[in-house]
Amino acid sequence: MRYIGSKNRILNFIDDTITGTYGDYSNATVADLFAGTACVGEMFKKKGARVISNDYMYFSYALQISKIKRNNVPRDYERILNELNSLEGIEGFIFREYTLSGEGERNYFWEENAKKIDAICLYLEEALNNGIISRDEFYYYKASLIDAVTRVSNTSGTYGSFLKIDDDRKYKKIHLEKLPAFSNGKENECYCEDITSVIQHVHGEILYLDPPYNNRQYPPYYHILETVTLYDNPNIYGKTGRRHYEEKLSPLCMKDKAVSSMVNIVRRADFEHIYISYSTDGIMPYEELCEKLEEIGEIQVFFKPYRRYKANSNGNIEEDNGKLKEIIIYVKKR
Ligand SMILES: C[S@@+](CC[C@H](N)C(=O)[O-])C[C@H]1O[C@@H](n2cnc3c(N)ncnc32)[C@H](O)[C@@H]1O
Repeated sequence: MRYIGSKNRILNFIDDTITGTYGDYSNATVADLFAGTACVGEMFKKKGARVISNDYMYFSYALQISKIKRNNVPRDYERILNELNSLEGIEGFIFREYTLSGEGERNYFWEENAKKIDAICLYLEEALNNGIISRDEFYYYKASLIDAVTRVSNTSGTYGSFLKIDDDRKYKKIHLEKLPAFSNGKENECYCEDITSVIQHVHGEILYLDPPYNNRQYPPYYHILETVTLYDNPNIYGKTGRRHYEEKLSPLCMKDKAVSSMVNIVRRADFEHIYISYSTDGIMPYEELCEKLEEIGEIQVFFKPYRRYKANSNGNIEEDNGKLKEIIIYVKKR
């Protein structure tokens, strides 16, 4: 899934940095508390670590349940998936608000797919209420649905707006795929909380933090995935039909609050080894952040060169190593 700030392409950099400083972490408890797509936590799990993960977005929670918490697929998985894939569509909230034929006249989905999403959401809600599926299984299916929705959305990747001209993706029939479960044989934990609350009750050896880099708040960019997960008929507004998100304004996306907020998180964390992913062009000057973090522990900064290619004066393409982008700040707490 395309996601703002996803670390999918730099998993090796994260793994190498932790292994090079902490050592083998396969027996450690490792927390990933800005989990997003949960790809980093999934890597920790595949290494054998017990994983704790968190993000304040519910669609992320669904992905975390399928990738991190569950060590096996839901009971009767194939049969229920087949049933979901063969449901008749229903004209519900997604159809009404996010198709051109609905009241909202928003071009996010093909009508056939929107009706199918509505039917799947209603089926899962009923199956949960009737005890046919557990709460974790409910989120596991929602993770399949999120995965499917991202493959048929008429957007350029985020849900901040829809495309005016239809992309081919829009007319692909939505289909829920089987998501594999990986077992590390451990009791992993997942949360959907604000960082300031989760940091007070989780403990372990290694904490990985991947906060937002810029002033773009996540909720408006992923509002439809949130609504598909919660299916809570929210009050929405504007041309793109956003959910309200006033209670989810992250200080980490605000230039004047980000550094103190991050320092507070690190100060309160009950973990000795803390790794913070950041960017050299993020809204917090990383040098200022490091300076403040030095009051809490020993700091090391690791840089991943941003691989850029440019033409030299002879017209040949060569690698430009001048720009640095991704960094990891390692804090060993005193
Ligand atoms: C840079 S992204 C993480 C990307 C993730 N590592 C990945 O590879 O997919 C930052 C995440 O922080 C979450 N977030 C922002 N503010 C938060 C807060 N106050 N509490 C919890 N999560 C927050 C966002 O929802 C977003 O998923």
